[in-house]
Amino acid sequence: MQGAINVNDIRKLARRRLPRAVFDALEGGAGDEVSLRRNRAAFDRIEFRPRPLADVAKRDLSTTVFGEQLSMPILLAPTGAGRLARSSAEIAVARAAARADVVYMQSTVGAFTLEEIAACSTGKLWYQLYLPPDRQEVKNLVSRIAAAGYRAIAVTIDTPVLGNRERDARNRLLARPPHPKVLLQGASRPVWATDFVRGRVEARRPGRPGRPVQQSLDQTRTSIKTSSDCVTWEDIELVRSLWDGPLLVKGLMRGDECDRLVELGVDGVVVSNHGGRQLDGVPATIDVLPEIVDAAARRLAVLLDGGVRRGTDVAKALALGATAVLVGRPYLYGLAAGGEDGVLRVIEVLREELDRTMALLGAATVADLDRSLVSGARVPGA
Ligand code: FNR
Repeated sequence: MQGAINVNDIRKLARRRLPRAVFDALEGGAGDEVSLRRNRAAFDRIEFRPRPLADVAKRDLSTTVFGEQLSMPILLAPTGAGRLARSSAEIAVARAAARADVVYMQSTVGAFTLEEIAACSTGKLWYQLYLPPDRQEVKNLVSRIAAAGYRAIAVTIDTPVLGNRERDARNRLLARPPHPKVLLQGASRPVWATDFVRGRVEARRPGRPGRPVQQSLDQTRTSIKTSSDCVTWEDIELVRSLWDGPLLVKGLMRGDECDRLVELGVDGVVVSNHGGRQLDGVPATIDVLPEIVDAAARRLAVLLDGGVRRGTDVAKALALGATAVLVGRPYLYGLAAGGEDGVLRVIEVLREELDRTMALLGAATVADLDRSLVSGARVPGA
């Protein structure tokens, strides 16, 4: 891990440690992975127009979201598959986030219950909500989220059915009993396999709290037959009526839905295409960001995820109006490569890169990052 100087280096370490099918499950996108590639390509297309001669001797990366001070505008996105990378999964991620003082948005799907994760973390936790198929359970779930101390809820709206993850199908990742190909790959990575089996045994330990919501979601999510995963406007209203804290929707990809979200009392959105894992063919998130920022007109916090791999990407998103960004795969690489310390390393690499980028741009604070600092972005009307 010491020799890894950027996220891509840490990705290479993760690829070495994980069986091929597992790495693919974390890395892959949907269909032909057009949107997955677009997320990255669009960041690379945007150019900086630095504003030198500014006094950037001291930089302040902190920002405020929903009245809360964040040490920097980077959050950890919800990823339900952390247990594939390492058995410590969400616990390791939550602990690293707390050590780095960044927000961890924890997924509804995971190896640990929301209470277990909250109990292990002194940090700032937000909760990503997949609605339970039985809407009667929503009230109870929201009460648990509040009681455990989560500060915000983000309802993911882009997953009525699971995206077409062809890498997983080709690798027979979900075959039960496990496909010999997968078992063979696992055997070729004994360190990973030992940890994975330990995690499975621990999960079945008698007396461990049940995870009824997550389990039912795991089952429905692998099927495209159910419609219970659909989130509708009525569901957003329902969650709003049950939750007093900040409410976001995650997965917004167009500006014309902002007015209605504001009317329903939503506080923020995450511009996201689920890291290219849901509908293939949608634009890069950074390409629709300006449209959504303009439509939100300061009434909503506008966060973004998808393809953020460098501090320069963070600066580009903020310059185009994002309140903050989230990263998914980067910290999963860190988790696979080095557990809690690996996640921390990824966060610190991104922090250092953002700090350097701001200095070179002539931006001493996050508020100094504005549209004049970038060109080549798809800005409406430009
Ligand atoms: C995800 N993502 C996701 N999103 C969500 O709302 N709930 C979830 O359970 C998951 N699970 C998940 C698993 C894995 C393996 C990945 C890679 C992603 C999407 C995630 O929150 C985020 O939108 C993307 O990961 C952002 O793109 P990058 O940073 O991975 O490029």
